[in-house]
Amino acid sequence: MFKCVAIVGATGAVGQEFLSLIDQRNMQAGAIKLLASARSAGKKVFFNGSDLVVEELTPASFDGVDLALFSAGGSISKEYAPIAAEAGCVVVDNSSAFRMDSHTPLVVPEVNPEDARQHNGIIANPNCSTIIMVVPVWPLHKVNPIKRIVVSTYQAASGAGQAAMLELERESREVLAGKTPQPNIFPFQYAFNLFSHNSEVGENGYNTEEMKMVNETRKMFHSDDIQITATCVRVPVMRAHSEAINLQFTNPITPEEVREVLSNAPGVRVVDQRDPQHYPMPIDASGKDEVLVGRIRQDISQPDGCGIDMFVSGDQLLKGAALNAVQIAELL
Ligand code: A2P
Repeated sequence: MFKCVAIVGATGAVGQEFLSLIDQRNMQAGAIKLLASARSAGKKVFFNGSDLVVEELTPASFDGVDLALFSAGGSISKEYAPIAAEAGCVVVDNSSAFRMDSHTPLVVPEVNPEDARQHNGIIANPNCSTIIMVVPVWPLHKVNPIKRIVVSTYQAASGAGQAAMLELERESREVLAGKTPQPNIFPFQYAFNLFSHNSEVGENGYNTEEMKMVNETRKMFHSDDIQITATCVRVPVMRAHSEAINLQFTNPITPEEVREVLSNAPGVRVVDQRDPQHYPMPIDASGKDEVLVGRIRQDISQPDGCGIDMFVSGDQLLKGAALNAVQIAELL
């Protein structure tokens, strides 16, 4: 039982999911504190039969709080997560601020729950695309070590927050009304278009989203040997990310074996029906806890039988963010 659970970024897309998960999963909390910027202070949010009032985040916000779920961006986490930890509270941070810090565990409960116990007050929640990939890939890696992953993402608006979701909606209406939409949050028109993930591109030509998938997976798998390359793309979908994943295993493996392992894996649902074609889709994954996996087939370009292709969809706001963080809190 927590005395008081704080949600930092409570008015945001992930913050709102935190609140509904606390309710749905019956998290035992004596009190709930909603924190956001000064702009939102005083707003009321109906929860569990009464109104909670949003408070402005300040350094004093964490007095008496024993669990803080952060999703207000990296700079807020950098500034306030250490203050919260210092005040004696455990922080589960959804930003990238501490993910690669060697003293901060990075955790997906289906993959490396034991790492959560090594925390120094802060536990990092991985990047959404990384989580959605590792949930089905880890159980396969355990039975037949994976040498290489080639992943291409189809990422939804929700990954860039509430304002991005509203931008997709507005632009879609404008295009259908025959207008040319002006982008605000994203660098390009999003409706009826797609573009390379809008994070910064480094010297090696990979953007930071792609490098997060590489580095975070290696950290959680405790393996620097696994080779990973990613291409991250934003598609005009509201809230679930999809990914085409190509795997190279150490030993030959069949699609039947992969289906068998994934059918028994936590957090995964196999959706792989060839006739009539029914495979993972973002509209089916939205609002669901599990990562949907399908299109499981032998990679014909790997004649040694060690290659598998598959396609996954997972709710970016749930397993890709809020649900994973709440599951980490449950581990504690
Ligand atoms: P606010 O609504 O007051 O701006 P999203 O990821 O959907 O964009 O949401 C971001 C969340 O982070 C929102 O709850 C937002 O609150 C919060 N946030 C943004 N800037 C600050 C800040 N300076 N202090 C506290 N919370 C912030």
